[in-house]
Formats: sequence, structure tokens, C-alpha cells
Amino acid sequence: MRKIVFDTDPGHDDIMAILTALAHSDELELFGFATVAGNQTLDKVTNNILKVEEYLKINYPVYKGLDRPLVKQPQPQPAAHGESGMDGPVLADPEKKAEPISAIDFYCELLKNNDKVTIIALAPLTNLGVLLRDHPEVKEHIEEIVLMGGALNGGNINKYAEFNIWHDPEAAKIVFDSGVPVTMAPLEVCYAGGILLKETERFEEGGYVSSLVWDLFDFYCEYARKRNWDKTAVFDLIPVLYLLKPEIFTCKEGKIDVILDGEDTQGQTLFEEGEGNHKVLLDTDREACMKIFFEAIDSLDQKYR
Ligand code: BDR
Ligand code: CA
Repeated sequence: MRKIVFDTDPGHDDIMAILTALAHSDELELFGFATVAGNQTLDKVTNNILKVEEYLKINYPVYKGLDRPLVKQPQPQPAAHGESGMDGPVLADPEKKAEPISAIDFYCELLKNNDKVTIIALAPLTNLGVLLRDHPEVKEHIEEIVLMGGALNGGNINKYAEFNIWHDPEAAKIVFDSGVPVTMAPLEVCYAGGILLKETERFEEGGYVSSLVWDLFDFYCEYARKRNWDKTAVFDLIPVLYLLKPEIFTCKEGKIDVILDGEDTQGQTLFEEGEGNHKVLLDTDREACMKIFFEAIDSLDQKYR
């Protein structure tokens, strides 16, 4: 059983990743959610995970992390995820609140009492940068950070950078330089493992959880529809799929560096194959990815019947 925490800014694709992990609670033991400013403000993304928890009638602790990057200003992305950070589903305002301690205190406490915790990071790396900078003693208790972020050939926010790394490059650099093993799912493997727009239609006729997924895709796919793409990446899903079935991924080991400045290059990730404790996912079997995802949502639908 792998112990996991999500570091997240939900986020349509964050929620798909979380749902897939919840369907595999026999393999992934979830300790809670740490939220961070990214797609939208900290308050909005925290509200989104609380809403989804109430919709699913689950009760994992939610801890608020940092509300801004280490150096830059926060730069929410309403074009990608809407004003709420998770436009589409109409969910009730949550009664549940975030826990009274910060995400950083949560990590310190959890890692003091547990070994081999895997952190699945689906957002800018601000929380983890602060944690590893200010509390280096926790490092040995982290099994691995598996993150969605970075790009090898071209960015989605400037010429070379991916959004999560670009939003807080200083924090990302701390994480990559920390000595903690990091597996990075860059844009390219997320594109390779994407969903065909026509495949999303299966959720329209599905059950309770499918209907949430359908509403999420309805907004999320708009970006692809407008560009006449027949496929879209579900970025944050990929780290979870990798943890569940690493054999459907090809990867290389080496060292990743982060560029801190330059209009085209801020947040760029440079990968050098060889010595190092970083791993980059390069390619995957798209149909195998979708099989895991579809079966996960189907199994959750069964649970909510
Ligand atoms: C990343 O940015 C966010 O919009 C997604 O949730 C994902 O984490 C993709 O670049
Ligand atoms: Ca995200």
C-alpha cells in the first residue's frame, strides 16, 4: 500500500486524477489534500476540493498551503479553468472547512510520523519548495514526489515552459535540487496519454460520479473544441496512472534543472540523461491509460448506486 498526499489546485484535471486514486484506495492510502494557489486563488481551489468532497460524501482533511509563489505574483488562468477554477459542475457551497493548520504544518507532522510518503504534485510547487527549504529534516521520509509539470520540447504558457513550473520556478528549483527523488510527467507524455473528445461522451450516460466527470469535461474540452482538436490531455491524471501502472510508461533517468528567467524560458525544464535522482516520463500507451481511467470512474459509479 503506497501512502499518498495530493498537492493540488483543483482544477478539472486535478479532480480526474483524484477520482482515479480514490477508486484505487486498496493500493493508494490517501492522507489528505494540500492546496496551493495556481489555476485560481488559494481560496477558490480549496473551495473546489471541499465541494467535490461533499459531493462524493468523503472526508479527507484539506489543508491550505501558500497563496502566492515565492517571488512572482499569482497568475490565475480563468481561460483554462474558469473564474471558479473548476467551472462546469454546479455543486453546493461546502459546509466543510479546511483544517485549522497549514499545509506546511500538516506535511511536517505527517512526515515526522510516517516513512515513505509519496507526494503527488498537480500544481505549482510552492508548498513543496517552502517545505523542503524550511524543513529539510522531512526529506528522508518522502519516498518520491511524482509531479505533473515541465516540458521537454515546448511550453503551454510561454515558448518553453509548462504552467505549473512557470508559475513558481523558484519553488520548482528548490524541489528539483532537494535530493528527494522526483518523477516528472511533462506536457509531452500528457499529450500522448490524452483522451479523445468522443470518448468523453461515455460519461454522459453514466452514474453519479460519471455525471460529475461529464460536467467537468464539458467545460474543460471547450479549449480543444475551439481549436478543432479531436483529443485533449488530462494533464494531472498522468502521475496517478504512472503510480498505478508504471509499466505502460517509458522513462529516462537523469537530472532536471529549471530556468528562472527570460520571457521565453522562465520555468523551462532542462533534462540531462545520466546520473541523478530525477525521472522523466516520455511516452505511454494511450489506450491503456484510458482503460485505467474509465474503469476507475465505472467502479466509483458502482459504489454510489
Ligand atoms: C497544469 O496546469 C493546470 O492548468 C492543470 O491542472 C495542470 O496541473 C497543466 O499545465
Ligand atoms: Ca493542476
